[in-house]
Formats: sequence, C-alpha cells, structure tokens
Amino acid sequence: MANKLKKIPNHIAIIMDGNGRWATKRGLPRNLGHKAGVKAVEKTIDACLKFGIKYCTFFAFSTENWKRSKEEVDGIFALLRDYISKNDNIFLKKKVRLSSIGLLDPFPDDLKSALENMKRKTQDFDNLTITFALNYGGRDDIVRAVNSLIKAGETEVTEEKLSASLDTKMLPDPDFIIRTSGEKRVSNFLLYQMAYSEFYFPKLYWPDFDEKQLLKALKVFQKRKRRYGGLN
Ligand code: IPE
Ligand code: IPE
Ligand code: MG
Repeated sequence: MANKLKKIPNHIAIIMDGNGRWATKRGLPRNLGHKAGVKAVEKTIDACLKFGIKYCTFFAFSTENWKRSKEEVDGIFALLRDYISKNDNIFLKKKVRLSSIGLLDPFPDDLKSALENMKRKTQDFDNLTITFALNYGGRDDIVRAVNSLIKAGETEVTEEKLSASLDTKMLPDPDFIIRTSGEKRVSNFLLYQMAYSEFYFPKLYWPDFDEKQLLKALKVFQKRKRRYGGLN
C-alpha cells in the first residue's frame, strides 16, 4: 500500500500520451480517446489525494498541438471546459487548488473564464495543487520569462530571477515525470524545471491510467537514488 512507501514525490508531472491510439485501437474517433483521458485525470487526482502527493501537473495541450485538426483541437477545448465547470463543487469539497501554466490568450473565452473562475475560488487551498499545462511549451515558457525580465529592466539573468519569472514560479520542480504510451521523449514539457527529475515511461495509453498504475509508478520511484550531482 502507498502508506507504506517511504518516498512520496512532492510534485509529479504527467505527459498524458496515447489518447488517440487508445481510441483508434477500439475503432473509435480520436476525441473519444480524449474523453476517456479525462476520466483518467479524475482517477489520478483522487489517487494523488489518497497518496499524499501535494502537486500534480498534467500536460494537456502543447504549443505544438495546434498542428492538429480544428475538429480535434475544438473537441479538446470543449472537454476541458466541461471538466472544469463540472468539477466546481468537487474541487471545493476536496480542497484542491486549480492552476495552469502556458499562455491562455488564444483559448476560447468560455474556457478561459471557467479556468479563471476555478483558480480564484480555489486559490487558498493547499491540500493538492493541480496544474494544467495548456498551450504550454518549455521553450515558450523560458522565452516569455526572459522577455518579462528584459521588460522589467533587468540586464543580467540569474537562475533565481529566471525561475521566479517562469509560469511555474508557484510550483516546486517536478520530482517525478511520467509519460504514458511508451514514447520516451519530453516533447517540450518542463524543460528548465526537469533538470533533476526522475522519469518513468509506462507502455499503457493514458486512458488506462488509474490508482493502481500510479501506485506501480510510486514503487518504481522508491528505487531511484537521487544524487543531484553529489555522492551518496
Ligand atoms: C495525448 O494523446 C493528448 C494530447 C496531446 C492532447 P494523443 O492525442 O497525443 O494520443 P496519440 O499519441 O495520438 O495516441
Ligand atoms: C505531448 O504529446 C503533449 C501532450 C501530452 C499534451 P504529443 O502527442 O503532442 O507529443 P509528440 O508529438 O508525440 O512528441
Ligand atoms: Mg501523442
């Protein structure tokens, strides 16, 4: 059981990959894969609460995902909007804080206002912080951070100043990054923040992820020896 685990990562970040393949394998349209993916998000949030994980970040839409069909992109936005509106009371009841990283400007107004609304209502909760990476790219995050420092009149960047200007300024660095679907790449996720993250690449598609899978991942995390460049 998870309560027997010695090392619970403070922050896990998940690249939720394989929704499309999960659907195709079943002869279904890709958007039904994304819909099933939302269920896996719900299960994962409950499992994080149960296991005492304080931060969980979900990569939901990358700066490169605009390359997909308008139908697929619009479908993902509708699912996100419905998910956030539907979970209104659930987030409040479970004392889950909702946040996001990535530039929200290009998103439809209904999605933006649902997000802003939930962020405001849940801003004082610290039981678990859920962050959705939306129109997020690690390179874009770094470039926007540097530009904001230049705009503020800075002439020299330090790691502290840069960290404090990234979208993730309110989050600790991820301890554990999970990417489902068997792909072993980071696809422009938290590039700066993953300097000392541990990685885990289970083969299953994201819609099949649940509490049991998270527990399995946490058991893998127990065996990792983090040295941060030092010696044990
Ligand atoms: C991940 O699943 C979800 C998003 C990128 C929004 P995919 O849609 O990438 O699924 P595959 O990789 O095509 O199977
Ligand atoms: C990464 O998945 C982005 C998200 C999970 C939101 P992709 O499916 O977009 O990544 P690539 O294209 O396989 O690298
Ligand atoms: Mg994919």
